[in-house]
Amino acid sequence: MRLGVNIDHVATVRQARRTFEPSPAFAALIAQQAGADQITLHLREDRRHIQDRDLELIKELVIIPVNLEMAPTDEMVETALRVKPDRVTLVPERREEITTEGGLDVSSLSSRIKGIVERLKEAGIEVSLFIDPDEEQVVASSGCGADAVELHTGRYAELWNSHDFEGARKEVEKIRTCAKRARELGLRVYAGHGLTYHNVKEIVELRGLIEELNIGHSIIANSVIFGLERAVKEMLSLIRGG
Ligand code: PXP
Repeated sequence: MRLGVNIDHVATVRQARRTFEPSPAFAALIAQQAGADQITLHLREDRRHIQDRDLELIKELVIIPVNLEMAPTDEMVETALRVKPDRVTLVPERREEITTEGGLDVSSLSSRIKGIVERLKEAGIEVSLFIDPDEEQVVASSGCGADAVELHTGRYAELWNSHDFEGARKEVEKIRTCAKRARELGLRVYAGHGLTYHNVKEIVELRGLIEELNIGHSIIANSVIFGLERAVKEMLSLIRGG
């Protein structure tokens, strides 16, 4: 299983003071050095953490793939076509949310998503759709021509963190069913959101179905205490050693 390290919260700390440190680009290089397979970052419409310049710098500096999470808007599509990340992950976005709260409703937005997927793919960018583990959304994603889906593990993580292990187990089964369905439809399958050093194990057990996890908050939170290199290496050992 591969690990995409989401470095948004390095920018969150910097933006708390609107200063120049800590640098997300520096963090991306350290994550790469520690063995991360990909750098993931979310350019939000309100630019609350990552700025356009961070994206440009990171794309220039790192040699591992860059996965840009963004809302399906015209402005963001133009940015992606200009910077050309290796992958775009389309995510829903609401200004008032603390983090991405649910998956993209691909079924309802299919004509818009389809058009965006086509434009990005034509430019040689892989397109993944961040969806809830819901079979209808998997089928709609395939219908839009996406290359991949990223299954939202936020609900699973919430249940696990509140020690509702039976609920968490049911959610893992939903993720497994959707991962299988997606693969049958020829989609690559990734997962992420809310994963931590404690709750990642059950998702790692789906390694035959899920190729990659994208993890941000827990790694960056632990890096404040232990350093980023150690935080990335410890997550890698849980993912690869498991
Ligand atoms: N995957 C997607 C599509 C996301 O939007 C996010 C959050 O930016 C993550 C993964 C990482 O989530 P977390 O920070 O909770 O690990």
